[in-house]
Amino acid sequence: MAATNEKPFVHRRVHLQGIALVAVALVAGVIVAYGEVRGSTGYPNAVVAPLAGLSSRPDNYGMPRPATGLIATSSNQGQVLFGRYCDSCHPGGNAGVGASLRDAQFKQQYTTTDQIIKVVRNGGFDMPAFPTTLLPDDKLQLITEYVLKLPQAGQ
Ligand code: HEC
Repeated sequence: MAATNEKPFVHRRVHLQGIALVAVALVAGVIVAYGEVRGSTGYPNAVVAPLAGLSSRPDNYGMPRPATGLIATSSNQGQVLFGRYCDSCHPGGNAGVGASLRDAQFKQQYTTTDQIIKVVRNGGFDMPAFPTTLLPDDKLQLITEYVLKLPQAGQ
């Protein structure tokens, strides 16, 4: 009789361990979920949100940036096309991945659309070559006219 009394006891202990395990898992789950709600930094959102605005990281993460907010009209086509094809590496005509298209040296060196067209068609170093299939002549012409009109900036 004594031996049969012990069996339910062992059973019960195992059962309690199972309950304890479920409880631990639940608590861990709640903690993880709570951390997720508060944001990965571990700080409450109220603290993180104002700091996010101070971040200086570029918002394009290296991807080509669209010419935000620009609606193509007959007078700004060059600018819109520049935004589409060139701005990712020459942000705003300034130096980025590519060289500045508006500093003093550039202004001195490039005075005609043909000179810029030559660079764009041939590429070179890290600048990709743009074939006519990718960028038709009429569009490139508009882009180069826009580049030449960019006001000088930088050194
Ligand atoms: C993928 C990046 C990239 C894109 C897109 C790009 N460029 Fe460039 N570009 C470069 C790099 C890098 C250089 C510098 C090459 C070098 O070292 O001479 C450069 C150089 C230039 C130069 C010569 C500058 C100089 O001082 O000699 C011109 C002109 C130019 N790009 C125009 C354009 C135009 C116009 C477009 C759009 C049609 C364009 N680029 C798109 C990367 C890019």
